[in-house]
Amino acid sequence: MPTVLVTGAGAGIGRATALYFQQQGWNVVAGVRRPESATGFEGLDHCLCLPLDVNVQDTIDRAIAQTMDYFGGLDVLVNNAGFGTFGAFEYSTEEQILQQFQTNVFGVMRMTRSVLPHFRAKRQGMIINISSVGGRLAFPLYSLYHATKFAIEGFSESLQYELAPFHIQVKLIEPGAMKTDFFQRSQVVLQHPTLHSYDDYQSKVWQKLQAIEANAPSPDLVAKVIWQAANDKTDRLRYSVGDQVPLLLFLNRLIPHSWLRSMIKSTF
Ligand SMILES: NC(=O)c1ccc[n+]([C@@H]2O[C@H](COP(=O)([O-])OP(=O)(O)OC[C@H]3O[C@@H](n4cnc5c(N)ncnc54)[C@H](OP(=O)(O)O)[C@@H]3O)[C@@H](O)[C@H]2O)c1
Repeated sequence: MPTVLVTGAGAGIGRATALYFQQQGWNVVAGVRRPESATGFEGLDHCLCLPLDVNVQDTIDRAIAQTMDYFGGLDVLVNNAGFGTFGAFEYSTEEQILQQFQTNVFGVMRMTRSVLPHFRAKRQGMIINISSVGGRLAFPLYSLYHATKFAIEGFSESLQYELAPFHIQVKLIEPGAMKTDFFQRSQVVLQHPTLHSYDDYQSKVWQKLQAIEANAPSPDLVAKVIWQAANDKTDRLRYSVGDQVPLLLFLNRLIPHSWLRSMIKSTF
């Protein structure tokens, strides 16, 4: 039975993915930042729920060592842990910028560096990075978030060349809006103590986003696409998923970019 390790499995897409792979019979390591509030994994067969903060190397090392001890190896890493920072760039602090990159980019790199020696030694493995439609296209007031997801796209696309000779595959999942904690509890909203020049625009876009989130599909949809990516035995790199996402990405290739930006501008 193959083994998958999912980061950020305490909620949303990560939780749905860990549970879906478990239901399909895989050995699952659900890496969670706050084990005390992770639910749904108790008593499940071939499933380990382990503390894992992608920003703390020690927790990564321990989770990988426990995975090796318990399941005897690792086949697929799903780099899912991440969050969004919403708001005008000028409102952001140095710390907020660093934090966004710490988790969404350096967390993915830390995890990847930590599993590569194992994958390379057995000349087999797969790294599935959860990017976003926002790794290909940018929407208003998410400049920091988009910067991280564009980074993940470039990182993954380049990495797959050097890993191919070792039979290690890299995949990118590009979801659109999903109904998770992403737009709620997990979102960092930028505000400034004295500057308010962007407040009106920010609250208009925020309301629009809440409406989009209210009608967004369940993260189970993404879990199934991640499962497909792990199993389809092709060297396909990108998998988009979600309402309008394939259409948007198709338009992105087809029509002049200025038209697409006008469409996005009028939506928000
Ligand atoms: N939802 C969407 O619309 C959407 C669309 C495109 C892409 N994505 C991407 O999908 C991924 C998952 O997001 P989601 O929608 O499932 O959001 P979510 O419901 O907020 O879940 C994110 C999970 O990541 C965990 N996490 C955050 N920082 C972490 C860290 N340093 N170490 C370990 N775990 C950490 C959170 O832990 P806690 O529970 O402890 O907070 C949470 O369990 C993200 O990479 C996001 O960018 C989401």
